[in-house]
Amino acid sequence: MLILNKIKEIKDEFNLELSNVKNIQELDTLKNKYLSRKGLVASLFTMMGTLSSQDRPIAGNELNNLKKYLNDKISSHILIQSSEIKISTKIDYTLPGANLKNGTVHPLTKTVLMIEDIFQKIGFSIAYGPEIDSDFYNFEALNIPRHHPARDMQDTFYLNDGNVLRTHTSNSQIHFMMDNEPPVRIIAPGRVYRNEDVSVRSYCLFHQIEGLYVDKNVSFSDLKSVLNYFARELFGNDVKTRFRPSYFPFTEPSAEMDVYWGLNSESDKRITKGTGWLEILGCGMVDPEVFKNVKYDHSLYSGYAFGVGIERIAMLLYGVEDIREFYKGDTRFLGQFR
Ligand code: PHE
Repeated sequence: MLILNKIKEIKDEFNLELSNVKNIQELDTLKNKYLSRKGLVASLFTMMGTLSSQDRPIAGNELNNLKKYLNDKISSHILIQSSEIKISTKIDYTLPGANLKNGTVHPLTKTVLMIEDIFQKIGFSIAYGPEIDSDFYNFEALNIPRHHPARDMQDTFYLNDGNVLRTHTSNSQIHFMMDNEPPVRIIAPGRVYRNEDVSVRSYCLFHQIEGLYVDKNVSFSDLKSVLNYFARELFGNDVKTRFRPSYFPFTEPSAEMDVYWGLNSESDKRITKGTGWLEILGCGMVDPEVFKNVKYDHSLYSGYAFGVGIERIAMLLYGVEDIREFYKGDTRFLGQFR
């Protein structure tokens, strides 16, 4: 049957042409050529009249199959083409990504987290005291007498109701011991306030971490070894430390710990005042008077306490020379601590 050969020819030719189609316009032309009212398929239908009644149903069937085949091929090709066009006009995968503005952890927070980690590793837990506190917790119970200069209006912010903004985190010691029986092994970070002139080195608020350890038979050498461990963890194994005798009303004996910073640069000379040594914390053995105030048996228990200045440590770790940078909220400064 001639018409069957024709059908096969048309199908092959169509497939070849379709594979060369490059865009929607060319596809349209192809569709018209084969499937329009005057197209090739339609012209085959007109040949049907010349066939015998035997051949006609066979040819009709084949012709319908061809028509469906071509239609299917064209519509699936349109789908692919149009989705390609959409993608290429809407999204350019070669463009660089948009810059997301991530926040950063504040350098003081980073420093606190680092120090907390160091002490948590050796079994200290974290406690908190209030920033607004009574005279009793901030001074009285810590054995700071009425005439002590720390209580002066010049140094302490007093509130109208008689409370104070705590001048150190040592108030957390008293709160914790009043609420808990020994043994005690805590660190207490937080913000403290002092009525000082604002300068490169001091601000009206700053941060401390308090440490307190109370048990039977706690000695000054326990204190020294824990603080030396702390300095090594923070500044590296080669760090040199020294303990200088000092005075705090709530510890006896008292000391300050220095780390050797060196005298390699002008800035080293400036921040160590030409000595190479830098004070980083105050410490001592808890004064028995403090134990009496919190109703601990001072004949049974002894302990040590220390207070670390966070800003001082952060300035050393990150090479910040002006303490005021920490409080400005300038994202150009803060963005450097990623
Ligand atoms: N509270 C003291 C200060 O602010 C530091 C300190 C804490 C000293 C604990 C000894 C023991 O300077």
